[in-house]
Amino acid sequence: MVMKGQLKRRMRINRAHASTRNLVAESQLHPHDFIAPLFIVHGTAVKEEISSMPDYYRYSIDQLSTELEELKIAGIQSVLLFVKEEDAKKDNTGAYAADPNGLMQCAIKYIKNYYPKFLILTDVALDPYSIYGHDGIVIDGVVVNDLTVDALVKMALSHVAAGADWVAPSDMMDGRVAAIRNALNDAGYHNTGILAYSAKYASSLYGPFRDALDSAPGFGDKKTYQMDPRNRSEGISEALLDESEGADMLMVKPGSFYLDVVRDLSENCSCPIAAYQVSGEYAMIKAAGAKQWINEHDVMMESLIAFKRAGSNVIVTYFAKRAAQYLIDNYPNN
Ligand code: PBG
Repeated sequence: MVMKGQLKRRMRINRAHASTRNLVAESQLHPHDFIAPLFIVHGTAVKEEISSMPDYYRYSIDQLSTELEELKIAGIQSVLLFVKEEDAKKDNTGAYAADPNGLMQCAIKYIKNYYPKFLILTDVALDPYSIYGHDGIVIDGVVVNDLTVDALVKMALSHVAAGADWVAPSDMMDGRVAAIRNALNDAGYHNTGILAYSAKYASSLYGPFRDALDSAPGFGDKKTYQMDPRNRSEGISEALLDESEGADMLMVKPGSFYLDVVRDLSENCSCPIAAYQVSGEYAMIKAAGAKQWINEHDVMMESLIAFKRAGSNVIVTYFAKRAAQYLIDNYPNN
């Protein structure tokens, strides 16, 4: 039994009032922490909900303005672009991925032109352009590394030529960060950032995203290039390599199941760390929220603060707009 008057340290004192809790809070969320992913499709007047991602949409370029306005009002400054390509444009070389007039390149130009304040990050990987739904070129059933890196370099350069501020290689090929950095240097792009998906795991949480882009692998899985979920030190090795190859920010993906890796990277690397709360994480929170098995809003905010607590500076999340809007409404001076 606790003896009255003998407790010197009462941990509950720092929790007793909301003001004290706010004073001693060790992590904070701010709208500037978020990167909002955007899914872009061909056509005009298209705004279609992704069935496995409730309240999340694919937009044709002409429909982006409403979404960008809302993101701006919520205080979001950064968007990460993905495209859904038509079957006719898919092949096994990724040729169309580097088309200066491709969907991605047109979307970049549109945003740069009409919303120049947004920081534009772009996904660099071949899966939306691959007849096999793989992140690279397939030869004899194998995703080959070095040929893929050549294609990724061309893809990245075409994004930057269109106006991308950052490129985000999500493919997990070896050496792609160095190759992209060299190419950017050679082309005189000295202000372009590389957000490397460094510790990207072969996760079952990407399902809804693959629905969104129609990019599920046609054969096999991605385990020969994405990381094994059993591994932790390997994530540090990947991140240190990417850092040494010239990455400016390092990403852990998925987020919630891999917070130990977020912590590891934040302690072992000097680059800023990003975490990607992926489509399956979003879908689970939305589904349980819709059933009212959890309080969706509260779980959303708790999931996001967990990334900050674990050590990530930046959070890529499909909740970006909603969470930022909440923060703005509740802390209007943000
Ligand atoms: C593909 C890519 C994927 C995601 C981002 N880029 C899927 C995959 O690797 O198969 C997943 C994002 C998400 O699930 O939200 N290069």
